Amino acid sequence: MESPETSPSPVHSIQPPEGRVGVLLPGLGAVATTFLAGVELVRQGAGRPFGSLTQMGTVRLGKRTEHRTPLISEFVPLASLDSLVFGAWDPIPDNAYESALKCGVLDPRDHVEPIRSFLKSIEPMPAAFDQYYVKRIHGPNVKTGRTKRDWAEELRKDIRDFKTRNRCDRLVMIWCASTEIFLEEAPPHRTLEEFERAMEANERCIAPSMLYAWAALKEGVPFVNAAPNLTADIPALVKLANDRGVPIAGKDLKTGQTLLKTVIAPMLKARLLGAKGWYSTNILGNRDGEVLDDPESFRTKEESKLGVLEHILQPDLYPELYADLYHKVCINYYPPRRDNKEGWDNVDIFGWLGYPMQIKIDFLCRDSILAAPIVLDLALFTDLSQRAGMVGIQEWLSFYFKSPQHAPEVYPEHDLFIQQTKLKNNLRYLMGEELITHLGTEYYEDEE
Ligand SMILES: NC(=O)c1ccc[n+]([C@@H]2O[C@H](COP(=O)([O-])OP(=O)(O)OC[C@H]3O[C@@H](n4cnc5c(N)ncnc54)[C@H](O)[C@@H]3O)[C@@H](O)[C@H]2O)c1
Repeated sequence: MESPETSPSPVHSIQPPEGRVGVLLPGLGAVATTFLAGVELVRQGAGRPFGSLTQMGTVRLGKRTEHRTPLISEFVPLASLDSLVFGAWDPIPDNAYESALKCGVLDPRDHVEPIRSFLKSIEPMPAAFDQYYVKRIHGPNVKTGRTKRDWAEELRKDIRDFKTRNRCDRLVMIWCASTEIFLEEAPPHRTLEEFERAMEANERCIAPSMLYAWAALKEGVPFVNAAPNLTADIPALVKLANDRGVPIAGKDLKTGQTLLKTVIAPMLKARLLGAKGWYSTNILGNRDGEVLDDPESFRTKEESKLGVLEHILQPDLYPELYADLYHKVCINYYPPRRDNKEGWDNVDIFGWLGYPMQIKIDFLCRDSILAAPIVLDLALFTDLSQRAGMVGIQEWLSFYFKSPQHAPEVYPEHDLFIQQTKLKNNLRYLMGEELITHLGTEYYEDEE
């Protein structure tokens, strides 16, 4: 009898992960350099990839009685760390060694100096940069073309040259650059023709991050957005990704406070505990914190952080519990803490008969330490998607994002554990294994 806990999946054909994979990073700041250094240290056996699902996670296959739980890296054909090579763009000309020292995330003696030559070898290419979109960044290492189209064509050339120079078989691009000012979808974002016309006309609605996304997709390179910018979350670029057969994923890595929020909020809803208020504040002293101190960049981040509770708590379905929820998010730039963010949450909840209770959370985290393993997973998983022929929006990677990109007809899934189930079922599906529904009645049925 077919197990009611599982259902069969078709077998997919996946190209083997042979050859070299170039990981291209617009932005060579704290997140990027912490990721790069970490990969190199792990490759040398001088560090462990904690926080990375592709390196340390497992996936259960079949029934619980089968005891089949391989490492994800043994189950799906992922590119190896040794096959990765790296490139970057940044308006600040520091190489990855200089940038890592300035960002101050990693211990210089233990984690920067031992890989000095590797980090020094990663020099940023001139960036497609316009200070109108990121007010607090200044840097001379920028492209000089007349139109945004010129910059984007230069990016395409950079991509091709990098691929040839480094003898890469495949590439992925992950935007690890600053959060740009808030942009809403505008008419030029709706079709590719309009988008390209607006690039040529240097229209304000075309941000630099969109040029990188356009260039990547044109070159058949998967594009991932680690920041909350609109970027590839517009119909023109989604269509381009689909037409070119390229995966895209975003937006905004889910690392600190929002990671906790997407665990606590589903718990409240699961137990039908109400919430009247959720006050979240952060202090952060790195360059990202400085960029977010600009109200226009903060607005982009705020929108990304605010959406989460609305979708998880579903006040339309549970008006008595959540319709009056007051949700506030603040980020304060506070240089002494550098990358070591502190996020406080005060949650005013209520239970049986309306009696009030409170939850207080104080998360003393390290922003880039939480982000680096996610960048690695996204690089390896989007490369897998491409080899498996999965094109367009990769909703199965929602697990990693604060504002998961999704099809227009559905709402985004924010609950971390639903996202995790979705991700692992996607891996089972790709490999022709049975999907797990967690029904589990067969363990309690009499044998015939
Ligand atoms: N660290 C986390 O936990 C986390 C979580 C979610 C999202 N993010 C996002 O990741 C991004 C990177 O964060 P970070 O801490 O590394 O910031 P950072 O300021 O240290 O680095 C960003 C770099 O991007 C560069 N840059 C800006 N515009 C650029 C452009 N047009 N082209 C190329 N480079 C450009 C800047 O010069 C800077 O060096 C930010 O947008 C941040 O909001 C980080």
